Amino acid sequence: MEHWGNLDINSDGHLMLGGCDALDLAAQFGTPLYVMEEDVIRDICRRYMRAMKEYKGGGRVLFAGKAMMTTAMCKLVQSEGLGLDVVSGGELYVAMNAGFDLGNVFFHGNNKTDADLKMAVKAGVGRIVIDSMAEIVRLANIAAEAGRVQEVSVRIKPGIEAHTHEYIQTGQVDSKFGFGIDDGHGLRAIKAILGQPSLKLIGIHCHIGSQIFELQPFRDAVDVMLDYMLAVKEETGYMMSEIDFGGGYGIHYTKDDDPLRPHQYVQTMMDELTKRCEAKGIDCPAFVIEPGRSIAGEAGTTLYTVGDIKAIPDVRTYVSVDGSMADNPRPALYQAVYTCALAGKMDQPDEMTVSIAGRACESGDMLVWDAKLPKAEAGDVLAVFSTGAYNYSMASNYNKLRHPAVVLVKDGKAELMVKRQTYDDLIRNDVVPSWL
Ligand SMILES: Cc1ncc(COP(=O)(O)O)c(C=O)c1O
Repeated sequence: MEHWGNLDINSDGHLMLGGCDALDLAAQFGTPLYVMEEDVIRDICRRYMRAMKEYKGGGRVLFAGKAMMTTAMCKLVQSEGLGLDVVSGGELYVAMNAGFDLGNVFFHGNNKTDADLKMAVKAGVGRIVIDSMAEIVRLANIAAEAGRVQEVSVRIKPGIEAHTHEYIQTGQVDSKFGFGIDDGHGLRAIKAILGQPSLKLIGIHCHIGSQIFELQPFRDAVDVMLDYMLAVKEETGYMMSEIDFGGGYGIHYTKDDDPLRPHQYVQTMMDELTKRCEAKGIDCPAFVIEPGRSIAGEAGTTLYTVGDIKAIPDVRTYVSVDGSMADNPRPALYQAVYTCALAGKMDQPDEMTVSIAGRACESGDMLVWDAKLPKAEAGDVLAVFSTGAYNYSMASNYNKLRHPAVVLVKDGKAELMVKRQTYDDLIRNDVVPSWL
């Protein structure tokens, strides 16, 4: 197993997470188990917030809740001064349950329902990020009925194709999200918003994709968005005051991944924006980012128990675990690659190449291909790293597998953030039609 960082391993050769022995966590809370390391989350939040403080125009760091949305997670990021990006009434509800400052919440989505919009306006969210022409009219009516002037921004497609998997590429012209620039759709939307007295246009938003390692697409986003803001001013006389660049900063999943530290991307973008604003003699707009993966991803490790092992001579060895694509759909969804280790054998040399199979009834339910491990045996605890983002939040009940518990660890303490689902949870909403 080749990991990219310094793993904490105790004198028994066991993996330590947040000062807790991974085998003890597995024994105490059961497997599969999502483990989140609080210090890792806080460290990244602080790096982002420090970088933001340096920027002349001010701004906000919003945690993209879609990466890992729980009540405790909301409380944790809020305690570090972050706001929140939500994309559904459900995510907003969790934020409300956490007592989140709703003025520091931005509501996104390419097809918000009227119910979503009503809930967001009533709650008093800081921004609604408009994504379609129809939404402008629907939202304007809802805000007017509520007697509110809702602050909004507009999602723009900057036409940047970042190098990442096509399913997580979002800034290109052929995307379901946002308004185009060259086709004039963005300008048409902005003019329509400016004509609505119940809406107040604050800024523009873009999100170019996720798990991006290069700096250039982010620099390009700064240039395109600033130029666009100025072009809108030229055309309408209205100067917006905020640019929201979304998230997208890459993280380690394997030792071959080579991201910068997350805040370094942001620093580069802010420097570029400051330089360009100074050159044009204008005030720096407020700067907003919405990192998700880079805050939660590397903080998370999933623990599984090894079950049956099937060695097919001259083909491969399948090591099955008690989790599956139901707790981590990313490998099946977009061939995501992970690093794993045997948490109780961290001091033992690798001696076999195996593939980690989930327990769901799908041949495609593979969690890791061709992992190098010490001798794996039934009962071993397998740790899969960097599962803090888009795992719990993308989990399903496929095969009626229950969502694992989520535990937060820090300084040797471990407490639940989310309880494991029970069998009763699986039938809680089942009802039987009267004719059956
Ligand atoms: C609008 C928006 N903001 C932020 C994010 C978070 O991106 P990431 O987790 O890559 O930082 C996403 C992810 O899809 C998004 O769509």
